[in-house]
Amino acid sequence: MKLIITGPPGAGKGTMSTFIKNEYKIPHLSTGDILRDEIKKETELGVFAKTLIDKGNFVPDDTIVKIVEKTISSLDSYLLDGFPRSLSQAEIFEKMLLLNQLELTGVIYLNEKKETLIKRLSNRLVCSNCSAIYNKETKKPLKANTCDNCEHSLVQREDDKPEFLEKRLDIYYAKTEPMLNFYRKRNLLYEIESGLSISEQYSQLQIILEMIRK
Ligand code: AP5
Ligand code: MG
Repeated sequence: MKLIITGPPGAGKGTMSTFIKNEYKIPHLSTGDILRDEIKKETELGVFAKTLIDKGNFVPDDTIVKIVEKTISSLDSYLLDGFPRSLSQAEIFEKMLLLNQLELTGVIYLNEKKETLIKRLSNRLVCSNCSAIYNKETKKPLKANTCDNCEHSLVQREDDKPEFLEKRLDIYYAKTEPMLNFYRKRNLLYEIESGLSISEQYSQLQIILEMIRK
């Protein structure tokens, strides 16, 4: 399957992607994770991206498209998380698929209310080593501040600091939300309602994936 998972910051894209990757054995490609990895390694791209990401701004389309093209060129199934995230990126991606005579299987849209998103992002912790996602309220690690998988310490993402949350959400509503209609018109958008727990959200997702994989 060739899938996109989209939705506002904090909707649960990363959390759901981990379940999908494990159950359906589909490679998970998060442009946010790729960029954060470059930042950690202090590469030229990482140094450039850090100035934008930490404050909640987008990285330019041509930079992102190069990363995606390089990563998916050898894959026959993938789950894209965080790309495309604007109408212009969706159009570029559609051209990329057409050129290679490929079709998208579906776009999963995780809907969530703004107040819930702010609460989740303020309480999110991520592993400093493997990037596993936790939450101080809704997904606590077994041992305080320690990753269940690799036992490294948990940290707050720079862009989850309160001063950047509203801005990231504003950018989402201005630039990413208009992209949803692009996929709705093509009958590719599958929406998961807001207000669900992590397990309820995944149950809905499984129903959708079982339906569209046929
Ligand atoms: P990215 O890493 O993609 O960040 P984002 O889109 O802001 O999304 P998040 O990762 O913050 O949220 P999520 O939906 O994955 O939620 P999560 O599962 O962690 O991008 C970061 C930055 O990189 C961008 O701002 C931009 O600068 C740059 N970038 C990336 N792609 C780009 C592109 N294509 N073009 C340009 N720039 C790009 O969950 C959140 C929290 O909630 C966790 O604590 C989790 O435990 C909890 N939680 C999840 N689901 C539930 C639930 N159902 N109930 C209760 N708690 C839940
Ligand atoms: Mg994420």
